[in-house]
Amino acid sequence: MLGLKTATDPSWIHQVELHLEEVLLDHAHCEKKAARTALNLICAYDDRGDPLCRELEQIVVEELEHFRLVLELLARRGIVYRRLKPSSYGKKLGELIRSREPERALDRLLVAGLIEGRSCERFAILKESLADAELADFYASLFESEAGHHAIYLQLAHGFVPAAEVAARFDWLAEKEAEIISRGEPLTRIHS
Ligand SMILES: [Fe+2]
Ligand SMILES: [Fe+2]
Repeated sequence: MLGLKTATDPSWIHQVELHLEEVLLDHAHCEKKAARTALNLICAYDDRGDPLCRELEQIVVEELEHFRLVLELLARRGIVYRRLKPSSYGKKLGELIRSREPERALDRLLVAGLIEGRSCERFAILKESLADAELADFYASLFESEAGHHAIYLQLAHGFVPAAEVAARFDWLAEKEAEIISRGEPLTRIHS
C-alpha cells in the first residue's frame, strides 16, 4: 500500500526500546521537518493554486500539530528538547531530486511521499510492538494521518507529469530508498 521496497529490519524495534529518548527526540525533529517540506513546496509551486495549495497547507497544519504533540509528550516525560545530529537518510534522498522542472517538482513530491510512507510503516510497528501503552496509543493516533500524507503527495505528483511517468519514477525512487534504509541509517531513529 505504501509502495516501499523493503520492510524495516525486525531488530529496529528492540533498538527503539533501548533508546526511547533518542527516538522521541528524533520524532519531534521529523514532524518539524515534515511541516517545513510542505511549506517549502507551497513556496515553490503556489502559482499552481488548488488543490496543491489547499492540500499542502493542510499538511503543514497537521505536521505542526504533531510536532506540538511530541513536544508535550517529551515535556511530560521530563525529556529536554534538543538538537540531534541528523542521519543521512533525508540528505541521501534529497540528492536524488533532479534540478530541472517539472522533474524537480515530481521528485520533491515523491521523496516527500516516500518519507511519509516510511514513517507510516514504522509508526505501525511502534503501535503494535511498544510495551509502553501511552506511546503505543500515541503512534496509533498518528498512523492514519501519515498514511494520508503519503497518498496526497503521490496524488499531487500527477499534476506535474503523466501518470506513467509518476509510477516509473516512484518505483525507481522507492528502490533507492530501500537501498538507503538497508545500508544502515541509525537503528535508534524514526529515520531522519
Ligand atoms: Fe506527522
Ligand atoms: Fe506526515
